[in-house]
Amino acid sequence: MKPFFISTPIYYVNARPHLGHGYTTIVADSISRFHRLKGDATYFLTGTDEHGDKIVQAAEAAGQNPQNYVDAISQLFKDLWPSLEISNDSFIRTTDEAHKKCVQHVLQEVFDKDDIYFAEYGGHYCFGCERFYTDKELVDGKCPDHLTAPTYIQEKNYFFRMSKYLEPLRRHIEEHPEFIQPERYRNEVLSMLKEDLGDLCISRPKSRLTWGIELPFDKDFVTYVWFDALINYISALDYPNGEKYLRYWPGAHHLVAKDILKPHAIFWPTMLMAAGIPLYKGLRVHGYWTVNETKMSKSLGNVIAPLDMAQKYGLSAFRYFLLSEMSFGQDSSFSEEALVGRFNADLANDLGNLFSRTLAMTHKYFAGQVPECGEILEQDREVLEIGQTSMDNFQTQFGNFQFSRALKSLWDLIRHLNKYIDSTAPWTLYKNQDLIRLGTVIYIVLEGLRKVAVHLWPIMPTVSEVMHEQLGTKFILENVDLETEMASWYGLVPGTIVANQSNLFPRQELEKPEDKPKTPSKPKTAPKPPAPSQPDMACPECIDFEDFTKIDLRVGTVISVEPHPQADRLLVLKVDTGEDTLRQVVAGIAEFWSPENLVNRQVIVVANLKPRKLRGLVSQGMILAVKQEGGLQLLTPSASVLNGSKVS
Ligand code: MSP
Repeated sequence: MKPFFISTPIYYVNARPHLGHGYTTIVADSISRFHRLKGDATYFLTGTDEHGDKIVQAAEAAGQNPQNYVDAISQLFKDLWPSLEISNDSFIRTTDEAHKKCVQHVLQEVFDKDDIYFAEYGGHYCFGCERFYTDKELVDGKCPDHLTAPTYIQEKNYFFRMSKYLEPLRRHIEEHPEFIQPERYRNEVLSMLKEDLGDLCISRPKSRLTWGIELPFDKDFVTYVWFDALINYISALDYPNGEKYLRYWPGAHHLVAKDILKPHAIFWPTMLMAAGIPLYKGLRVHGYWTVNETKMSKSLGNVIAPLDMAQKYGLSAFRYFLLSEMSFGQDSSFSEEALVGRFNADLANDLGNLFSRTLAMTHKYFAGQVPECGEILEQDREVLEIGQTSMDNFQTQFGNFQFSRALKSLWDLIRHLNKYIDSTAPWTLYKNQDLIRLGTVIYIVLEGLRKVAVHLWPIMPTVSEVMHEQLGTKFILENVDLETEMASWYGLVPGTIVANQSNLFPRQELEKPEDKPKTPSKPKTAPKPPAPSQPDMACPECIDFEDFTKIDLRVGTVISVEPHPQADRLLVLKVDTGEDTLRQVVAGIAEFWSPENLVNRQVIVVANLKPRKLRGLVSQGMILAVKQEGGLQLLTPSASVLNGSKVS
């Protein structure tokens, strides 16, 4: 079994967990689940960083002693993770006795090698970052991260001879492109290494700070925050002799955001070199979440609590959104509108609707039993090929931390399955009693959905398990073989009973509808009568723009569909166009669309058409469609939008 170890940063306990912490930990969880799916020996570590000036200040501000304070905040992080389906194997705290011992052990080894020395130093110290800044690194004399002026501090301290290891580190990075990724951060580190970075101050005199780990070779000093914090990655594995260390460290990967690139890309590997410990395999660096394009901050009151979002929109939606929205490595803006939009488009429309209509058809046509897969025709082979490419791309991209690309690849299969149903028209096969062909089509879609469920487990574990159950199977991690999933399309056993209904992702509306007009906004003033149009000699049939604007086109979602009691050709749709009541639209589409395939779809409605009766039933508008040989396609927005949105 290949080892795969993944860590998050250990979070400072001076603030409650927020979206940024939630994101990193959800990413780490997803990647560790993915490696478990692959059958790798996987270990996932997270925890809290509890020493240093910042923590003492926060404890003082809260009127508590440091130990009580860190116990309480650390517990907040620990308690949060299970509600976000975080499956960490352990939770480290830098106040754990075993961790302190391990830090002292490493310090002693490096000291014995003469790579730690005592000297006087004066420099610009940022308390936010807990480190000294060189003049060059400051921007207008301020810390670029906290935008505060650092404090000049001069004192005697212990230093780690980092400079000795910078050249070997540079060579390692050059020779191992996978060591730091994405590439932009690798380049950033290579350019940092061109500067004279010097040595690293690793201590604080106890006269100034007592809340830290005592140096084993000088009782008057405690270790400086990074030398303490970074060692958590091996202390949690019981370094130096622990079985866990021997098993997992060879597959070590660290996940961090860009704010702590330098400590992880430069301090940590040089510390490892000095201590004679093999380097980690990979550092993966992501960008920052802003909120509606603004930096998250307590003072702006825009700090997003991950649990609030998970409770409001569902954990699966939240996890899916974070992974699909952020292009790993780049910054991304969080907004509830974007979350709801993506949820409705990708999860409710594309996946949820496909899943529920396929189960419904299995019940309608085969009494709920998975049918036999008959002869594979060209049209089916195309699905199998698209499926294979989609899974192959998903697996490669997910493994390379390209989560949003990986999900797009998986959605290629989902969208193709939707198209496949539309083009094979199972309802027509049923009407013609072509049950063998119908069975093949339904089997292929059910099996495709099972494959989707397997691949979604790292991102949405519960949804994946529910999909398995509704398909009459059970998700058993040990039985999953991703290679076989790609190579064969016959995992589902014919005769298995599937659920008769499913509502994986009920459509969402933004919670504050008063912010957005739900009903189509009425023009404030009566529209001006169009100026009498002059015939245009170049285009005699053309209409004026004003004529076009007279047509009120609105987006609506089909809520229910019934056959017209008096006409086979007609269906009676109830459509939500964002008004107080549903609109009834009678449409001549029964030949092409079965009722269950219309429900939940967004359509474009001509909303200001004079109502008229069609075979006794009033139709309040019409829906737009394209008729082509062999079918009728409905017009729909390319992503889900609020009902009642104007089409222009
Ligand atoms: N304690 C140090 C890390 C020591 S690791 C040996 C620390 N803690 S922290 O609480 O400030 O956490 C920083 C990390 O939180 C970032 O690297 C990132 O993982 C996450 N995030 C915090 N804010 C974030 C955003 N706005 N966006 C994305 N992730 C961010 O630094």
